[in-house]
Amino acid sequence: MTLERKSEDHPLSKYDQDDHAEDTYAHHEPKLISDKIAFKFVKFLRIFADAFFAKRYGHRAVVLETVAAVPGMVGGAMLHLRSLRKMEDDHGWIHTLLDEAENERMHLMTFIEIAQPNKLERFLVIVAQVIFYISYFFLYLISSKTAHRVVGYLEEEAVVSYTQYAEMVEKGEVENVNAPQIAIDTWGLPSDARLLDVIRVIRADEMMHREVNHLIADKLSQSNLDIKTHRQMSDESIDKLNDYSSKTFPK
Ligand SMILES: [Fe+2]
Ligand SMILES: [Fe+2]
Repeated sequence: MTLERKSEDHPLSKYDQDDHAEDTYAHHEPKLISDKIAFKFVKFLRIFADAFFAKRYGHRAVVLETVAAVPGMVGGAMLHLRSLRKMEDDHGWIHTLLDEAENERMHLMTFIEIAQPNKLERFLVIVAQVIFYISYFFLYLISSKTAHRVVGYLEEEAVVSYTQYAEMVEKGEVENVNAPQIAIDTWGLPSDARLLDVIRVIRADEMMHREVNHLIADKLSQSNLDIKTHRQMSDESIDKLNDYSSKTFPK
């Protein structure tokens, strides 16, 4: 499978077009029963997130990024242990998953500069971490395919939430403040980058996580590989997806 590459002139030019294009919301149709359960489960969680955070997207980003950074670390550790146990190569997937966890943690480090969680939210983060870490670990143990599918659907929701956040900034309902220095350094943004630029590059990361996790779930369930790319993804991400699609995933 070869995916088309896109090149842009300005480092940010590709991020400010087609916010509402269909493929921003690329959805992977649940095929297996486990996919359908994963999808319904994520939609169910979204009800709580929407009720709790409403339009406080900065706070939503901080709290949910603390959760988003967990699966990559759990999956990476599980593959690492599997590789030791079976004495078999991981085909580079451990790094892919650990990179995802690190990337999500950088989202958190960025948004903590933009929104400060209140005491209730800090408490919620601790409770959510205990529950989510343990349940994701056991889910991965029982069905890594379902675990990656859950993450794929969580990332679909992350893309929706960041698009809604971007729309609020565009409409002036949220101030388009200067980008935090950590975001400028991490994503190589211009020094005059603003919050909207940060949201868009982070959303492009979430698109990548969405595709990688759905791709892994497809590989584990031996369904046809169903990768979707978006014009806002970097050339590097598209190259990586091409590469991942040809690599064996440890079972
Ligand atoms: Fe994230
Ligand atoms: Fe993500």
